[in-house]
Amino acid sequence: MLRSFARRFRPLFEPSVARLQSWAARKQCSVQALMDIDEANLWFPPDFRDRFGGFHPPGQIRDVRRGFSLDRVRSDMLVLLLREIVVGQIPGAFAELGVHHGWSARLIHHYCPDRRFYLLDTFAGFAAADLKAESLAVGFNEKLAFQDTSVERVRQNIQPIGDTVAFVPGWFPDSATPAMRDDRYAFVHLDADLEAPIAAGLAFFWPRLAPGGMMVVHDYNAWPGARLAVDAFRQQHSVRAVPMPDKAGSVVLLK
Ligand SMILES: C[S@@+](CC[C@H](N)C(=O)[O-])C[C@H]1O[C@@H](n2cnc3c(N)ncnc32)[C@H](O)[C@@H]1O
Repeated sequence: MLRSFARRFRPLFEPSVARLQSWAARKQCSVQALMDIDEANLWFPPDFRDRFGGFHPPGQIRDVRRGFSLDRVRSDMLVLLLREIVVGQIPGAFAELGVHHGWSARLIHHYCPDRRFYLLDTFAGFAAADLKAESLAVGFNEKLAFQDTSVERVRQNIQPIGDTVAFVPGWFPDSATPAMRDDRYAFVHLDADLEAPIAAGLAFFWPRLAPGGMMVVHDYNAWPGARLAVDAFRQQHSVRAVPMPDKAGSVVLLK
């Protein structure tokens, strides 16, 4: 009864723009940065969350870890895509190419700790062969990026639950293990920045993706290599691609 009263008279209590602005300043975000289903949002709808689960599958509470302080849209996007995989009961393992410190891997693993999850990275930054193959010049600082990591550091960051996380160090695609080749996938995150590894990731994982599965390619609207690799792949294969408005403009490929 209290809720229906609140809903009916809500317009009377709608916050003014000035109040919203000061609230956003206090939270250090824009008003738009939190989705309505986020419990911290002013417009959070508890009835909707109770009925449909919000960030969680209905009737379940999953561990939602966020890690990108500069990109709330990206973490919300990943959580909601994983939710689709869970609710749709899409079978298969998960994989991430491009792990670095493991922030995206941590989010993915803790939302779905039961899935086998391959983590692929050189754990030593970009490979010279990939940098050489890049069609556009890569800056000096970018060449040195992502070297400050290791399997142990990522393990510490992720704190894996059980034994579903499999570290696959080395240069991809050569690093792909026999188990990975035999597996089928429900969710793949490609975040390797450069054209060559992203092209290799698409070629490797797309044929192994289950119907209803999805691949997220980060940087589609930010890094030329990511855009070139995805567009070349789309010219050869019939792939449904949905661009996303996260900071680096991911694209989701649906099977
Ligand atoms: C942008 S970082 C990944 C960031 C991470 N997904 C996150 O959001 O927390 C890109 C990573 O791709 C890895 N990488 C690039 N090319 C690779 C290749 N051919 N084989 C393995 N790892 C590669 C780099 O070592 C680097 O750690």
